[in-house]
Amino acid sequence: MTIREMQEEILRMKEEKDLCILAHTYQSREVTEIADYVGDSFQLSLKARTAPQSSILMCGVRFMAETVKILSPEKAVYLSSPQAGCPMAEQLTPEQVCAEKEKYPGCMTVAYVNTTAELKAVADVCVTSSSAAEIVKKLPAKDILFIPDVNLGAYVQACCPEKKLHFLFGGCPVHSSLTLRDAKRAKAEHPAAKLLVHPECRPEVVAYADYVGSTAGIIEYVARSPKSEFIIGTENSVAEYLGFEYPEKKFYPLSKGLICADMKATTLPDVYRILKEGAEPLEMNPELLQKARGCIDRMLALG
Ligand code: 13P
Ligand code: SF4
Repeated sequence: MTIREMQEEILRMKEEKDLCILAHTYQSREVTEIADYVGDSFQLSLKARTAPQSSILMCGVRFMAETVKILSPEKAVYLSSPQAGCPMAEQLTPEQVCAEKEKYPGCMTVAYVNTTAELKAVADVCVTSSSAAEIVKKLPAKDILFIPDVNLGAYVQACCPEKKLHFLFGGCPVHSSLTLRDAKRAKAEHPAAKLLVHPECRPEVVAYADYVGSTAGIIEYVARSPKSEFIIGTENSVAEYLGFEYPEKKFYPLSKGLICADMKATTLPDVYRILKEGAEPLEMNPELLQKARGCIDRMLALG
């Protein structure tokens, strides 16, 4: 079976089974081509709430499928690859977070959406990289315990000087591998290019960049910019995606090693197999689901 034939068969089966395919922009081109919707974490969570189909297949990582299930508990939700987790989502335990919170009376806990449902259940509100600063600004508390990404947290702190953010530890192993040296080298090689980075990068890389934003923010920046060359400081599939969308412009990955193995765990045959043979839908404890939901609902109301 060719890739094209497999894609056509997937499109046919998803209609027949009333299934919606959501794909994060970090997925491969073969997968994004068969998705009903492609977007960043925030855009996907909005679609998870409104998709009219009776079941949803999330092509991404586990916390994204959990977010879909939390927002649409009545639907059957599938994760494209059972081993696709986000290492950052599991770096902290709810016990660590609750113990830390005790240190700052009156503080609110803000959880990056890249967290397990257990962590969301002990947080006051969730954020994505595109909505984090906006939401933190709106919170009534001055003291904020921001989990788990210290790099995104440092970026939010810089955007919200009136708040006092507190951190535990944590971060994305892919984005935090980028160094200022990588950024300076890329700028020296492509002096006319704008440097666009994700806020999961280290603060010194963020400070050096021409633009910092989520996956969707980076894509929108390119769409609006009259410039024709860009260095992309996020997972390499974003540079690849932009190359397909804007063939007249040039995109240089900030580092060739910027690949998230978990996001890349999903293949087109995985999607085909789930549709053809079926799979176990995601199961979540209803009480946990309910507790985690408050945190995501607050994000959608404030973001
Ligand atoms: P966004 O989709 O919010 O840009 O986050 C990037 C990411 O690392 C997803 O896991
Ligand atoms: Fe997690 Fe980083 Fe991969 Fe995103 S890129 S899924 S934050 S490990």
